[in-house]
Amino acid sequence: MKLWGSRLQKKTDSLMERFNASIGFDRRLWAADIRGSMVYAQALERAGLITTEERDELLRGLEMVQAEFADDRFQIQPTDEDIHTAVERRLGELIGQVAGKLHTGRSRNDQAATDVRLYMLDKIASLKEALVNLQRTIVEKAEAHIKVIMPGYTHLQPAQPVLFSHWLLSYFWMLERDRQRLDELEQRTSILPLGAGALAGHALGIDRQFLAQQLGFARLAENSMDAVSDRDHIIEFLAWAALLQVHLSRLAEDLITWSSAEFGFVELDDAYATGSSLMPQKKNPDSLELLRGKAGRLIGHLVALLTAVKGLPSTYNKDLQEDKEPLFDAMDTLELALPVAAGVIATLKVHPQRMAEALNDGMLATDLADYLVQRGVPFRRSHHLVGQVVRRALQRDVPLRELPLDEFREVAEKFGEDVYLVFDFRRSVEARASYGGTATQAVRQQLARTRERLG
Ligand code: ARG
Repeated sequence: MKLWGSRLQKKTDSLMERFNASIGFDRRLWAADIRGSMVYAQALERAGLITTEERDELLRGLEMVQAEFADDRFQIQPTDEDIHTAVERRLGELIGQVAGKLHTGRSRNDQAATDVRLYMLDKIASLKEALVNLQRTIVEKAEAHIKVIMPGYTHLQPAQPVLFSHWLLSYFWMLERDRQRLDELEQRTSILPLGAGALAGHALGIDRQFLAQQLGFARLAENSMDAVSDRDHIIEFLAWAALLQVHLSRLAEDLITWSSAEFGFVELDDAYATGSSLMPQKKNPDSLELLRGKAGRLIGHLVALLTAVKGLPSTYNKDLQEDKEPLFDAMDTLELALPVAAGVIATLKVHPQRMAEALNDGMLATDLADYLVQRGVPFRRSHHLVGQVVRRALQRDVPLRELPLDEFREVAEKFGEDVYLVFDFRRSVEARASYGGTATQAVRQQLARTRERLG
């Protein structure tokens, strides 16, 4: 009954059977597996290995199996070790002996590798859409709140005032790099292993170029031994997924902090929050905490597969079956994480008043140093002098703008009456009009560039 049974004399141990089986997770490859087999049947006929009637019979049978999966009627049997075995077993039941010709020259090694690549190419397309949708949401939110000024932080200490939109767009660019990486790894996924056989290629004149064209692959694997054991594209995908989730975790962390009562800069929509079973007053940012937490999971998947592949002897080893669960779980995770992140951003309530209240004159100390620089003081010196001004204000326990002019002038003669013009957060923001800076004009230009990227 097994595809490989006749060489072995004993029945497989029942726990070993469960241990060995991958059908529990590779079942989801059914569409890719059948698609690959349909094209393979055509290639067999073109090579003269089966008759046109046999090809049509195989295609008819494969269509029936396809329909069973599509309608959720397919019955997995205990002997179905993996999806490839299951499809072939059912094909035999439906069309009889001729089903046995489908596997001519093919191994499950090149078949499984092909199926996963087909599946990935499909998923990459939909993940790209979800990623772009999140980017679009960010851009729209940034446009809608272009007037809002907030404290910018380094070390989570108040640093300089920035536009809320500028902060938000910083995540657009992280995601834009993720999108580029996805485009690149998509190209390296679009390489066909089929026709590599178990490891050495096939001896039966099957046209691999035809297989690639029919299945939509850009290129052929150049070496059959590499083809059956190459998992680089999966590792790259997991690295991509981990880094993307790390970006989402940082976005989440910012918003978790700012939605706390102490900050109150933003408020999460109820649709993305949960309550507490004990404390009636609670509104918890669980969506954001999960976006943050899932990063650990995805980093784990990357490390798991890298570790499984490390030191493997060349070509196929069963260790490679361990590629699928991390891959599928990473896909499932992102399929939810990306739209949830987009939903959180789209519905986020922004509180400009709370942000304004959190601004303090200390955040204009750099502008004060710039003031002296514009009057000819070397920056190192002006930094030092403004430090003294800040200390004097702290001693008097007043904001910088309430320090009398003679105190300023005791520190540096260059300070004039107009020094008080520095104490304007809007002015500070608008002064930073450098390319990529936080001035409204610069952010508008940035927005235009995000629009160009999104096409
Ligand atoms: N289920 C296997 C996998 O996912 C298919 C390949 C089996 N090949 C083999 N030589 N046993 O890796």
